[in-house]
Amino acid sequence: MKLFDVYPLNPIEITKGQGSLVWDNKGQEYLDLYGGHAVISIGHTHPHYVQRLTDQLHKIGFYSNSVEIPLQSQLAELLGKVSGKADNQLFLCNSGAEANENALKLASFYNGRKKVIAFKGAFHGRTSLAVSCTDNPKIVAPVNQTENIIFLPHNDETALERIFSESGNEISAVIIEGIQGVGGIRVATESFLQKLRSLCDQYNAVYIADSVQCGYGRSGKFYSHDFAGVEADIYTMAKGMGNGFPVAGISIAPKFKPWHGMLGTTFGGNHLACAAAVAVLEVIENDKLMENARTIGSYLIEELSKLDKICEVRGRGLMIGIDLPEELSHVKKDLLFKHHIFTGESKPNVLRLLPALNLKREHADRFLDALNKTLNQ
Ligand SMILES: Cc1ncc(COP(=O)(O)O)c(C=O)c1O
Repeated sequence: MKLFDVYPLNPIEITKGQGSLVWDNKGQEYLDLYGGHAVISIGHTHPHYVQRLTDQLHKIGFYSNSVEIPLQSQLAELLGKVSGKADNQLFLCNSGAEANENALKLASFYNGRKKVIAFKGAFHGRTSLAVSCTDNPKIVAPVNQTENIIFLPHNDETALERIFSESGNEISAVIIEGIQGVGGIRVATESFLQKLRSLCDQYNAVYIADSVQCGYGRSGKFYSHDFAGVEADIYTMAKGMGNGFPVAGISIAPKFKPWHGMLGTTFGGNHLACAAAVAVLEVIENDKLMENARTIGSYLIEELSKLDKICEVRGRGLMIGIDLPEELSHVKKDLLFKHHIFTGESKPNVLRLLPALNLKREHADRFLDALNKTLNQ
């Protein structure tokens, strides 16, 4: 049986990882500033994480949501504390798309409406409703197409006001990334999120903060949307939540009242997933990783802004986009194959840095040095 060939692969086999470093099967070391697509939040094979998962696996790995799983409440309590949303409620699932799917569904149950506002450049996942809210027609299959999604220009307050004044009472939800990831590291402005909040209040629409990529401390705040100083109704999260173990969730404001059967999943919130998620939060808290994301992120952004060959540097904390001119489209490949540094990318030519939140200053310097050499060769 062959693999279904949907991924363009680098000819590299990673066999080992520690912190922000990984090694291939030939023993070559790489600096990982990509984190397997923003997933590695506390570094590869963090000892506390390995210990917690190993201990849990020796006890029990899985049981379904038909029995009490105290680890879920432990996770909810810790998440409430670290994210600063102790009054919210947690629903656990398995991936970012599933988190957004559930958030959109919950919004629609809540206000009985169908229309959703999403934004140009957005990526919300590949399941049916999440992909309909994603601004990439290529990955929307005919069966996913719906007239219920309205795409607006990103950060355009006038367009947002106009649509609400025209059809505010039909709008179920507005879904927005705090920082667009796939869209090229584009930060939602604080005034835009404040406007969005007040319009949602006025029309009883639900503000969904997609924090799948920009959340979990990456921006220097737990949820990057919170820089705007207003609360979202639902925060969705995944990637960094399990440091590689598939676990996702939605943090739900108190005004949403659950009923049995409203949402559900077989795998979501299982023992191993919760152990991974608890371990991640413990490390984020104990090792002060949000502080580190702020410090190293600001350092990187400052140093990168000094490089004159770069068009623009965007982002917050350790979610950084480096916009390069067309003639420098080779940089990502050079960094990987000549300097052994993994980075991400956004089309057409943005280098995306999504490293572990405990990235060290020496690793930031190693990257800056390599980038300088690549830009000037
Ligand atoms: C902002 C955002 N939302 C949702 C998703 C989908 O997450 P998943 O691939 O876990 O379904 C992604 C994935 O890249 C994302 O970046």
